[in-house]
Amino acid sequence: MLGLLKDGDHTAEQVLTTLDLADRLKTERRAGSEKPQLIGKNVALVFEKPSTRTRSAFEVALRDQGGAAVYFDSTSSHMGQGESIEDTAKVFGRLFDGVGFRGYAHHDVELLAEHSGIPVWNGLTDTWHPTQALADLMTMREALGRPLQEISVCFVGDASDNVARSLLVTGALVGMDVRIAAPAGYQPEEATISAARHAARGLGGRVTVTDDLESAVRGVDFLYTDVWISMGEKESLWDQRIADLRNFRIDAAVVTATGNPDVGFLHCLPSFHDDATSVGRTVKQKYGFDGIEVSDDVFRSPASIVFDQAENRMHSIKAMMLKSYFPSIGATL
Ligand code: CP
Ligand code: NVA
Repeated sequence: MLGLLKDGDHTAEQVLTTLDLADRLKTERRAGSEKPQLIGKNVALVFEKPSTRTRSAFEVALRDQGGAAVYFDSTSSHMGQGESIEDTAKVFGRLFDGVGFRGYAHHDVELLAEHSGIPVWNGLTDTWHPTQALADLMTMREALGRPLQEISVCFVGDASDNVARSLLVTGALVGMDVRIAAPAGYQPEEATISAARHAARGLGGRVTVTDDLESAVRGVDFLYTDVWISMGEKESLWDQRIADLRNFRIDAAVVTATGNPDVGFLHCLPSFHDDATSVGRTVKQKYGFDGIEVSDDVFRSPASIVFDQAENRMHSIKAMMLKSYFPSIGATL
């Protein structure tokens, strides 16, 4: 896998071998037996949007493996303002061994890949979050200890966003039962649903997109949600989003509707699950919600494996980078 720009660019085998390697790296790190294999690799991290997990995952993974990161926030390189993306990419190609990018337009990460000649990994754009999907799949498989082809997940909420679209396509590709419960206007666009259905054929995955929340969640292994306003969207959209999505919020009733006493809860994070953020406080005062896209009781319940998921960002990003440089690297301990 030379870089990773969007879901569907990779094969099911590449995804599954990356997840196997991520499992192994997690075990080795805990045992203190990890072997650095990225010694001398320098990676530019160009982040136009904020990040806690993704940046940390790249930096810690590189440090563990003997490599190094140089971080550029939205103001500390010339890229996009004083220098074209094409020229910046060519410079990166001379100085670095890889680029991790987080930004707005997906086309920008494609330009970086086209002109740099080195692996480029998409750490989130407006339309895709492929490294998140790797961690999501790793976490679900780890939690249940069975193959992804025997696991179902239902994304509830704003499913037109990057996280839902990546989960849909990569989940389908590896043969999962992936369901989307979202109202009209918040479902992935038809081209992405078709791409997921096409990808699902290989390993017998199933794709369901519906506005019928109750039927979508019935019997599911995992519930998944994300914020209702993504980075780059206007805060003034809150009233409309709450009006449109209030029936697609994960709370105790949705957990009960699954009929699965062992259902797990996933969230890419960050989350507005309580009033510890200004947005969470404002919405609580205005609408009385204790948590926006997920209620605080579900977020903090034993069903919630969101911090395993956050940790797995690092192991899976490490595996992804290793596979870029050593495509045939094995997963066997
Ligand atoms: N899930 C995720 O991408 O988190 P950050 O925005 O903190 O990187
Ligand atoms: N959909 C969210 C994901 C954050 C990790 C966003 O783009 O802001």
